[in-house]
Amino acid sequence: MPRAAFVAIGTYVPDRVVTNAELTKYMDTTEEWIVQRTGIQERRWVEPGLGSAEMAHRATRRALDQAGWNPEDIEAIIFASLSPDHMFPGDGCFLNAKLGIPGVPALDVRNQCSGFLYGLSVADAWIRTGTYKKILLVGSETHSTGLDVSTAGRDVSVIFGDGAAAALLEATDDPGRGVLAIELHADGRFATDLWTDQPGSIHSPRNTHAMIDDGSGYPKMEGQKVFKHAIVRMPEVVRNLLGKTGLTTADIKVFVPHQANLRIAETVQRSLGLRDDQVFNNIQKYGNTTAASIPLALAEAIPERGVQRGDLVALAAFGAGFTWGAALARW
Ligand code: UT7
Repeated sequence: MPRAAFVAIGTYVPDRVVTNAELTKYMDTTEEWIVQRTGIQERRWVEPGLGSAEMAHRATRRALDQAGWNPEDIEAIIFASLSPDHMFPGDGCFLNAKLGIPGVPALDVRNQCSGFLYGLSVADAWIRTGTYKKILLVGSETHSTGLDVSTAGRDVSVIFGDGAAAALLEATDDPGRGVLAIELHADGRFATDLWTDQPGSIHSPRNTHAMIDDGSGYPKMEGQKVFKHAIVRMPEVVRNLLGKTGLTTADIKVFVPHQANLRIAETVQRSLGLRDDQVFNNIQKYGNTTAASIPLALAEAIPERGVQRGDLVALAAFGAGFTWGAALARW
C-alpha cells in the first residue's frame, strides 16, 4: 500500500521581528520572565494586510520551487489554521485561488496546535486509499492581530507568533520512506481551557460592542493546566506509536515537538530519554505558531540535523481542544 512521504517543506515568516523588549512597552512583563518561563526570545508579527492565506501561499511557492513541482501538480490542499483570514470560507479556498488551481479540493482543518498532525493523517489516508497522489499540507497562523497585548492578556500574548509552513507530500511505495504511523486524540472536557469564546455562533447576536469591551474576543488559557497535560500526553502518544511500530527512542534521528513552550519540549525530551541532538526546537525565534509550528521546525531540523533519506522523524503536538497526537515518518 502506498503512503505519504515528505517531498519538500517551504516556510514563510513575516519580516517584522518582535522582541521581548518590545513587548515590555505594551504590558507589565520582563524579558527575563518571558525567556525563563517560555524560552522565547522573539517572534514575528504580520504588517497590516498580510494574513494566513498569503503567508501560506508564499510558503507553498518556496516548497514548489524546492520540489520542482508546478501548482498544477497539487491534487488536494489541506489547510490547518485557527486564525484564517475570514470566518468563512476557509483559507484553503483562498490558497487555491492564489495558486491558480481552480477545481482542486481544499480541506480546512481546525485542530489548533495538532492541526498539522490531523492534516497529515488525512493526507496519508487519502494517499493510502489511492484518492490523491500529491497533496499540499499547510499550517499557517496570524495570531498577532487577535492578541490582547495589555497586561490582562500577557500570559497568552507573549507566547504566540505568526508564520506559515507548507509541506508537499507524495505517494511512495518505498518501504524505507514515508509515514509509518499516526495517532490522534481529543478530550473536549477541556475545550474552554484554551479558547477564544467570541465571536461565535452560539452568541446572539454574534458580534457585540460588549465583546470588544469585555475582552471575550481574545484567546484565554489556563496555562498551567495546558502545561501539565501536555507534558504527560506528548510522551505517552510517542511511546504508543513506537510500541506499535516496534521501534525505540534510540531509532529516532530527530524529534520535533510542537513549539508551545521550551520548558514543555524539554520536559517531554527528558520523559522520553532523548539526547539533545535528537530534539529540535526553534521556539526561541518564532514563539508558538500553533498549526505552523511543527512544519516550521521540521523544515529547519532537516538540514540542521543532517536528516537523510530513510531517517526516522518523530512529531508530537498538544494544544487547544484539548487535542494531541504524534506521527512517525521515514524521511
Ligand atoms: O500551543 C498551545 C498550547 N499552549 C501551551 O502549551 C502553553 C502552556 N502553558 C505555558 O506555557 C505556561 O503556563 C505559561 C507560559 C503560559 C505561563 O507560565 P507559568 O510558569 O505557568 O506561569 P503562571 O501562569 O503560573 O503565572 C505565574 C505568574 C503569575 O503571577 P502571580 O500570580 O504569581 O503573581 C502570572 O500573573 O506569572 C505571571 N505572569 C506573567 N508575568 C510576567 C503571567 N504571564 C506573565 C508575563 N509576564 N507575560
